[in-house]
Amino acid sequence: MSTPFLSVRDLKVHFSTEDGVVKAVDGLSFDVEKGQTLGIVGESGSGKSVTNMAILGLHDPRNTTLDGEILLDGKELITASERELEKLRGNKMSMIFQDALASLSPYHTIGAQIGETYRKHTGASRKEARARSIEMLRRVGIPQPDMRVDDYPHQFSGGMRQRAMIAMALVCDPELLIADEPTTALDVTVQAQIMDLLKDLQQEFGTAIIFITHDLGVIADIADDVLVMYGGRCVERGTKEEVLRTPDHPYTLGLLGSMPSLNGPVDVPLSPIPGSPPSLLNPPSGCRFHPRCAFAEKVAGGLCSSERPGLKVLDGRGSACHLTADQKHELFTEHVAARTH
Ligand SMILES: Nc1ncnc2c1ncn2[C@@H]1O[C@H](COP(=O)(O)OP(=O)(O)OP(=O)(O)O)[C@@H](O)[C@H]1O
Ligand code: SF4
Ligand SMILES: [Mg+2]
Repeated sequence: MSTPFLSVRDLKVHFSTEDGVVKAVDGLSFDVEKGQTLGIVGESGSGKSVTNMAILGLHDPRNTTLDGEILLDGKELITASERELEKLRGNKMSMIFQDALASLSPYHTIGAQIGETYRKHTGASRKEARARSIEMLRRVGIPQPDMRVDDYPHQFSGGMRQRAMIAMALVCDPELLIADEPTTALDVTVQAQIMDLLKDLQQEFGTAIIFITHDLGVIADIADDVLVMYGGRCVERGTKEEVLRTPDHPYTLGLLGSMPSLNGPVDVPLSPIPGSPPSLLNPPSGCRFHPRCAFAEKVAGGLCSSERPGLKVLDGRGSACHLTADQKHELFTEHVAARTH
């Protein structure tokens, strides 16, 4: 079997704080292949951004402990030096965030910022970098790129800034792109345009994409595979079709019930998951979802609160729950029927 392009194994990211150790990511494994999009979904605080900052090597080493394995094209990133990571960032892997304004410098033109990334990794001249910036702006759909290249970020609209950030992230043809809620702040039309742009660019360059979102609708649009995170762990993974059509974990079922139906009747009432996300300073014992899970008492012996359910994975599909397949089938069917009638 060939090695996946990105392979994350038993990743742990723990922060030392005044109040104790925050176990933000606690034993996470996944793979991403070239040309594929992995969607990571989960409520606020589930560890999505922390996971990806770990891949990019952007955590403060003074209070962060990283453990496990992150292999990018065979290169181990956890033990890589800051210098090696610096070389990989922007070149082999790059990222786009929710807030383009915060990621772009207000003091330099858009062109200078895209060009700077290009020069840093390729040693190109200023003239070459400028030409490349214009080409990238054209590619991400900025009109009159040869004029707009000299604009400052505040002269761009929100959607255009997001496009400029994508241009900057892709200027060195990275093989891995991490997109952390890149469309959350945009209106629906611009959001759809940006997603189409990412899909086109992926087709053209064969980029592997990790797309982080709390929106299952976005996942339905862009992902090939899905990883559902809860309290710093993966609770379910599989292809997009598997996870969205036949969820195998009570938390995923809850997430699906808390959002407008993707392809079913539109008049089904939404039912948010009761309770709030767990503390990662002092996480619940056993299954971290147990204080909020409607099915916890169906598992004999109080196992849900005493024993961590392992993630059982077969051919990339799996979930971490003590319920048997038969129990899930029965309980999930009842649950959906109760919601829709
Ligand atoms: N530097 C840090 N020190 C201590 N705790 C941190 C640090 N960075 C993140 N955390 C904590 O780690 C947990 C996971 O955070 P993370 O940013 O990954 O959540 P997220 O899933 O991206 O949420 P959101 O959807 O709100 O962006 C949170 O409880 C957060 O408070
Ligand atoms: S292990 Fe128990 S608490 Fe956790 S999701 Fe499954 S049934 Fe619910
Ligand atoms: Mg986040």
